[in-house]
Amino acid sequence: QPRIVILISGTGSNMMAIADAVQSGDIDAMVAGVVSNRPDAAGMQHARDREIPAILVDHQQFSSREEFDANLMRAIDDLAPDLIVLAGFMRILTSDFVRHYRGRMINIHPSLLPLYQGLNTHQRAIDAGDSEHGVSVHFVTEELDGGPVIAQAVVTIDTGETAASLQHKVQIQEHILYPIIVKWCTQGRLAMTDQGVTLDSKLLPPSGLR
Ligand code: GAR
Repeated sequence: QPRIVILISGTGSNMMAIADAVQSGDIDAMVAGVVSNRPDAAGMQHARDREIPAILVDHQQFSSREEFDANLMRAIDDLAPDLIVLAGFMRILTSDFVRHYRGRMINIHPSLLPLYQGLNTHQRAIDAGDSEHGVSVHFVTEELDGGPVIAQAVVTIDTGETAASLQHKVQIQEHILYPIIVKWCTQGRLAMTDQGVTLDSKLLPPSGLR
């Protein structure tokens, strides 16, 4: 059975959506562990409630990014993962770390990449007057929020929309989309190539499915 390790920094609602899909048998894999860089991440308790090992690698205990990433890598590798899933993991990762997991690490980002890399994506989409917003799942490369997009889900931005209401809409889509992509990864259906992403044997454009 493929082994999944999920990295979180906060609530862990995406982690729970994936864990639930594993629990129900929809994803044929096991969640080998949840790793957080924050002791106060609510998702740590949610993981323990599901009897998933919850491992803390507190970035504040390390004096450099390199040292933190080396310890994070050790904690992850101890869990022997086939797939590393970033689910609201709010740390920038070093090149060494990213290269170590090349093609085996995915991230979910709350925007229609390449739009709005970085933070405050919902407010930025509203401020720009966009009529659409959404979420992207992508392979992680050394370029922050820049790896090849696997799939996106779109929501509309309505009149009177706030960052909070938009975030809520986007998260509903995240909890549908991310388990599907994790399932495809654990089935070996998805791969990162120099051209972008392949699903089964069909090459998808780097902009991904939409
Ligand atoms: C998610 O909405 C995810 O898209 C976002 O953090 C949230 C985590 O929620 N990720 C990023 O902003 C990455 N830069 P969760 O902890 O409830 O899954």
